[in-house]
Amino acid sequence: MSKTRVPRPLFCGNWKLWGSLSESVALATGVRDATASIITTVDVAVGPGFLALATVAEKLKSSALGVAAQDGYWEVKGAFTGEVAMAQIANAGARYAIVGHSERRQLFGETDANVARKAKAALGVGLTPIICIGETLAERDGGQALARVSSQLDGATRDLPDAELVKVVIAYEPVWAIGTGRNATPEQAQEIHAAIRAQLTARLREKAQEIRILYGGSVKPDNVASLMGQKDIDGALVGGASLTVESFAKLVKEGTSACTTS
Ligand code: PGA
Repeated sequence: MSKTRVPRPLFCGNWKLWGSLSESVALATGVRDATASIITTVDVAVGPGFLALATVAEKLKSSALGVAAQDGYWEVKGAFTGEVAMAQIANAGARYAIVGHSERRQLFGETDANVARKAKAALGVGLTPIICIGETLAERDGGQALARVSSQLDGATRDLPDAELVKVVIAYEPVWAIGTGRNATPEQAQEIHAAIRAQLTARLREKAQEIRILYGGSVKPDNVASLMGQKDIDGALVGGASLTVESFAKLVKEGTSACTTS
């Protein structure tokens, strides 16, 4: 008899800066149709750009496929030109908000303090924040990977009450593996995931087992199964391989069968 994994795995696409409105709708509805029969034991979401978010969410309204925003601002309204509030994102029909992606940190000056405020704001409007953390190549080569990830995790979650912390999703994304085709080995990823789990366990005890810790960084249909075979890897945050129906649906299928144990 097959047993469903706890926590329930999540496979989330991150389309980054990609796609017209019609391309976004076509990709989202294609993923919806191709994954409909799988989204019973796992959660799956697509990650369109802001301009397509509401339309995509509307198209997916009656399906189990979720929608993730790629960022979001903590203030509800006011003089913050160019920002999109978490409340607006929730109102548009999204279920998740990615916060602290390494591209936001590296290219747009996102700090741990900002990420913490964004995560808190997302939770406040009923969104699930997907908090991204991960070390650079220099930090890994310098033996600093665990310390870096630990301080990012602490910075983003320190001020959340335990009852809110259990609702977050953590995404470990080593910066050197994002968009490079060079993914961490399952063992390298598991080492960090186990450390993240241990840090969460120190605060939440057994409740930490319920938190999903995703891996991200060059996850593809042909390497997702070996990653999902690791004890503390509960899904994937997927960039490049989420940009076609064929590749994302295959990735979700492979990932799902790998995490349904007998
Ligand atoms: P990638 O991106 O799958 O293209 O490496 C992952 C991410 O940035 O979330």
